[in-house]
Amino acid sequence: MLITNIGTLVTNDPDLGTLRDAAILFEAGKVAWVGTKVPEGTSGDRLDAEGRALIPGFVDSHGHLVFAGDRAEEFAARMEGRPYTAGGIKTTVQATRAASDDELRANMHRLVGEALRSGTTTMETKSGYGLTVADEERSLRVADGLERTFLGAHVVPPEHDPDTYTDLVKGKMLDACAPHATWIDVFCEAGAFDGEQTRAILQAGIAKGLTPRVHANQLQHGPGIQLAVELQAASADHCTHVTDADIDALANSDTVATLLPGAEFSTRAQYPDARRLIDAGVQVALAADCNPGSSYTTNIPFCIAIAVREMRMTPDEAVRAATLGGAKALRRSDIGHLAPGARADAVLLEAPSHIHLAYRPGVPLVNTVFKDGVRA
Ligand code: NIG
Ligand code: FE
Repeated sequence: MLITNIGTLVTNDPDLGTLRDAAILFEAGKVAWVGTKVPEGTSGDRLDAEGRALIPGFVDSHGHLVFAGDRAEEFAARMEGRPYTAGGIKTTVQATRAASDDELRANMHRLVGEALRSGTTTMETKSGYGLTVADEERSLRVADGLERTFLGAHVVPPEHDPDTYTDLVKGKMLDACAPHATWIDVFCEAGAFDGEQTRAILQAGIAKGLTPRVHANQLQHGPGIQLAVELQAASADHCTHVTDADIDALANSDTVATLLPGAEFSTRAQYPDARRLIDAGVQVALAADCNPGSSYTTNIPFCIAIAVREMRMTPDEAVRAATLGGAKALRRSDIGHLAPGARADAVLLEAPSHIHLAYRPGVPLVNTVFKDGVRA
């Protein structure tokens, strides 16, 4: 498929940059050519973009999509002033344990479909609402096809004490889950897991061939970011409460800071300061953190609008963080950009440039989504 007359083409490629009045050729699921002058003799399907913008598909590198039920009442209570705590996770654990595999799969696919319609072409999901060996293992199994992260260390379930549960996560649960996951994550936070437990769990995961990522510094300052850097995690996620030392550590590492403004929106909390991170040289990603407790959205354009308005990111930076940033957080070089050889995952916007994603908040600007070169 050849798409011509693209008003603004965001390639995220350092050499190609952002092109005006551009065209792109998709072949066999990949980008075959990008430029302004269509090579002669190009055949196949043609699409006239009529001046619309084309951007890489969003790479949502942080989600919790395997669950049952919702927590609308908890959200309403928060909006009346009740604080958000890690404990609410237990409500979803109960509902998830009671659900069948098919119910969990159907709910996850509903969310993946919802995300796709708003431009997300790659998603990551974590386990973490099962918290038994069997329920964590099946959570990862039903998520086949997505980037998968083992998050047995989400909270300590009521039937365990912290030490025996940490041992279970590092032992039998990890053994059962590692074959179904690429990544291992720990919710390193007061009310969940402390620094020592987080290190032990992540090290056990590394020994099993998983790569760490960490829920770090979401609700208050803690050791999560420093641990993520020490263990060469792919990402430190949330990064809301950070010190200069945390920022320094991130800036001197390959660990991506994944910012999740949907969580601060839904918990009415202070947003992370993306400007401070970016100015210090930290690589940032933006993701939705879709989960029924702290951030029940799959909508990346919404996150981009918040990041620009409230986290001091420029529209260019926010769109890049939600595409190339997400790809880096998942250590993927085939997505998040539109240079020749990349996967043909792209979004045609009902707008002349990507700036409109923040400039026109709440407006559904997705015209067409391409996944592997095909209209999704
Ligand atoms: O990323 N922080 C931990 N996990 C989720 C929240 C999960 C929940 O409240 O159900 C998050 O915000
Ligand atoms: Fe999360």
